[in-house]
Amino acid sequence: MSKGKVGLVVLLILSVVLKFSSATPTSSSLMKSAGSSLLFPVHGNVYPSGYYNVTLHIGQPAKPYFLDIDTGSDLTWLQCDAPCVHCAEAPHPYYKPNNDLVVCKDPICASLFEPGEHKCPHPEQCDYEVQYADSGSSLGVLVRDVFAFKYITGVRINSRLALGCGYDQLPGPSNHPLDGILGLGKGSSSVLAQLHSQNLVRNVIGHCLSGQGGGFLFFGDDIYDSSRVVWIPMSPDYTKHYSPGVAELIFGGKTSLIKNLLTIFDSGSSYTYFNHLAYDALTSVMKKELTRKPLKEAPEDQTLPLCWKGQKPFKNTRDVKKYFKPLSLSFSNGKTRTLFELTPEAYLIISSKGNVCLGILNGTEIGLGEINLIGDISMQDKMVIYDNEKQMIGWIRADCDRLPRSKLDNI
Ligand SMILES: *[C@@H]1O[C@H](CO)[C@@H](O)[C@H](O)[C@H]1NC(C)=O
Ligand SMILES: *[C@@H]1O[C@H](CO)[C@@H](O)[C@H](O)[C@H]1NC(C)=O
Repeated sequence: MSKGKVGLVVLLILSVVLKFSSATPTSSSLMKSAGSSLLFPVHGNVYPSGYYNVTLHIGQPAKPYFLDIDTGSDLTWLQCDAPCVHCAEAPHPYYKPNNDLVVCKDPICASLFEPGEHKCPHPEQCDYEVQYADSGSSLGVLVRDVFAFKYITGVRINSRLALGCGYDQLPGPSNHPLDGILGLGKGSSSVLAQLHSQNLVRNVIGHCLSGQGGGFLFFGDDIYDSSRVVWIPMSPDYTKHYSPGVAELIFGGKTSLIKNLLTIFDSGSSYTYFNHLAYDALTSVMKKELTRKPLKEAPEDQTLPLCWKGQKPFKNTRDVKKYFKPLSLSFSNGKTRTLFELTPEAYLIISSKGNVCLGILNGTEIGLGEINLIGDISMQDKMVIYDNEKQMIGWIRADCDRLPRSKLDNI
């Protein structure tokens, strides 16, 4: 069964020793101004690939790497020839680190650990281990190296950033053929936070994932018109991940009585996950509704846990849209209620067998506990923006097939 992957980091622990000699880090800096946004084309899709990737250029000389974009975790890492103990096949040769080790006492190393769990048995290096919710993991050491970027204005910048040299990876149930992960979470180790601390970009990211596959990712706030975006504050209570707090599930415009769903936006997860209460309620209402429709459950289709077949194979979610109701998650903030809407396209896929499958999965089953994840499937054809400066999450319907012209093009 292909369940896609879940990019959410669930825990970080200390790991084994690897020897490097260290060098003195240098840093570059450039004043940020209007137009200091970065824009990356994105490749991939929810099904069948199960990932979206961008290309980054890292090292001296800079080499390209394909990275999975993950707003559910902070650390960016590459499969690393340190030498590698367990690496999966990758599209490019494994990253060869230079000798610029991050020391254990460095605050960026400490930021990878829970308070109190950051110990330094090997002060000269920073050992990390990230473990993802799908039970995949990466173990390695933190190094610094040069990342090459280009602003939307065309100006090129180089920035020395910390990244993980991952020399021991355990694949999750859904390993994918990439060089590493681009951590875009809220923590100070994320590439975004590091670029921001060097005053190179505003602390804002966004992505636009197309339902046709592909799309784009951006850092900075020059790409969208903020006044047209639906904004909701990030939760002050749950600060580990990008979360607007708790939501109520609305099914076909009616309240489902399923409330208090702690919700996280996670681009590293292909599918959406509800906790078992919401999942149980949703699947039982759906099954009941579909008994009156020309769709039959198709347990023989193992693409996802719940699939239905029609009289003939379906080609597109448009073919089945009429049988399914829209869902939404309703977030309330004082007196205002903000809806995150999920049209049938945002929670269904058409399997290779031509059946329609539910792209909302049971999060309790994979150990997410009470947490609910909004994954790629439900963020398609929307620009989703994570503004760490204003502590807001926003979204707006968008054409993700075309790279945007920035607001600056009009100047
Ligand atoms: C990743 O994205 C690049 C373009 O940035 C694309 O050429 C490549 O095929 C993608 N890799 C995979 C494995 O999908
Ligand atoms: C969801 O997962 C939980 C925990 O494994 C399980 O108890 C529950 O029955 C599952 N729900 C459905 C509808 O399969």
